[in-house]
Amino acid sequence: MSPEKSCNNIGRNPSSKSFFIETYGCQMNIADSNDIRHMLVENGFKDSDDLDSADIIIINTCSVRATAEQRIRGRLGYFKKLKREKNRIVVLTGCVAERLSEQLLYEFPDLDIVLGTHFKSNFVSAINTYIKDNERKSYTGFHGYSFVDSHEDKEQNFRAYVPVIHGCNNFCSYCIVPYTRGREISRSSGDIIRNIKKLVEKGVKEVVLLGQNVNSYGKDRGDVSFSQLLSKVSTLTDVERIRFITSHPKDFTKELAEIIAYDDKVCKYLHLPFQSASDKVLKAMGRNYTFKSYMDNIDYMRKLFPNIALSTDVLVGFPTENDDDYRMTLEAIKKIQFDTAFMFKYSVREGTKASKGEDSVPEKVKLERLQEIIYTQNNITKSVNKKRIGMVEKVLFDYKAKNNTNGYIGKTDSFKNVVVDSESSIIGNIENVKLDSLSGNTFIGKIV
Ligand code: 5AD
Ligand code: SF4
Repeated sequence: MSPEKSCNNIGRNPSSKSFFIETYGCQMNIADSNDIRHMLVENGFKDSDDLDSADIIIINTCSVRATAEQRIRGRLGYFKKLKREKNRIVVLTGCVAERLSEQLLYEFPDLDIVLGTHFKSNFVSAINTYIKDNERKSYTGFHGYSFVDSHEDKEQNFRAYVPVIHGCNNFCSYCIVPYTRGREISRSSGDIIRNIKKLVEKGVKEVVLLGQNVNSYGKDRGDVSFSQLLSKVSTLTDVERIRFITSHPKDFTKELAEIIAYDDKVCKYLHLPFQSASDKVLKAMGRNYTFKSYMDNIDYMRKLFPNIALSTDVLVGFPTENDDDYRMTLEAIKKIQFDTAFMFKYSVREGTKASKGEDSVPEKVKLERLQEIIYTQNNITKSVNKKRIGMVEKVLFDYKAKNNTNGYIGKTDSFKNVVVDSESSIIGNIENVKLDSLSGNTFIGKIV
């Protein structure tokens, strides 16, 4: 805690205050922002889309890479300028808040409240306390995470992000997440089902079950496994589509592959990060699988459902990655033919195991490797997409295209973007769509 008075002359009545949330990072942060928004609205605060006029600015942050953190510092600098024009409350939450709380309170005198990742359920009381006491404070540390009910997404209210497990126990040697989110804590399956039933009553059609490593679900509390959770969500609720992210290859099971392949509600899309195809590098990363075992999972998944869409994360330039290791990764990308890949160059995260050693791959080499895999994967994405032309897929329509008056954009089961012309609104509908052609990586289709 860092008690310190600041000038708060924006009034003491919370119900008159508007708030604006800015969200960075992964889907877990999108889910957290949705939850925070609902808690605040339920307590009389007003959701605003206008940063300039909002009384409370909330910035939900990511620290997975150094660049993400730098951006947050830039934003805090900008909020300082905004605060000069009109007094307001600035709140920092998410992973950067957890990691750098005291430092940022010191560096940015205009920052008022810092709320770490275990304090989501205390959001409203922290803001009310600030309004009452006018004292700058940080709330951080792992005191036991409590889940709050998930709500529909703000933009697409037929979709809800539902965290099922918080934190991570894996401590991959490059990764900051276990330090910013703490150890794995699963939400009870009964509570998840109850929450999803409520969401469905409110019109939600798709739930995205979230966790840093969903395959660990249930282990900490002796609840059902993740595959069993998927089955329960599918059979016990009327939700129409189920997605989930992220799976860890070391915990991926045949049972999970079977549910993805055979359960109609579970989307035919799997995100399975492989990071590197060199066993030496995987070992140094602390990933606990070999590239062969990763390939066995992919092969099994494709055997059960050949059209499964696959995506992955790749991390190049990890310490000790030499040319041969890198070539293995490049060859793996060519061989597996992912639909998409999220590709990164290693950046040192203070406090992680890898940060204790040398950041041995020169920046220039990291960049060259990254550029080469991005170029390679972009071509693969194009050619993999072409193979889907002519297929019929179920599409959930998300929003209206901006440049085309009758165009509606949606996502296929396989997580591809599709645009379809329709005279009337089809937002929130699930339709069978024939994929006719491609414009960039967006399919152009027709409802059949
Ligand atoms: N540097 C670069 N990329 C990283 N990731 C995690 N930590 C780092 C880091 N220190 C990437 C991994 C992970 C994804 C979410 O972010 O590929 O799967
Ligand atoms: Fe980070 Fe590894 Fe946990 Fe993913 S599984 S959040 S990469 S420590």
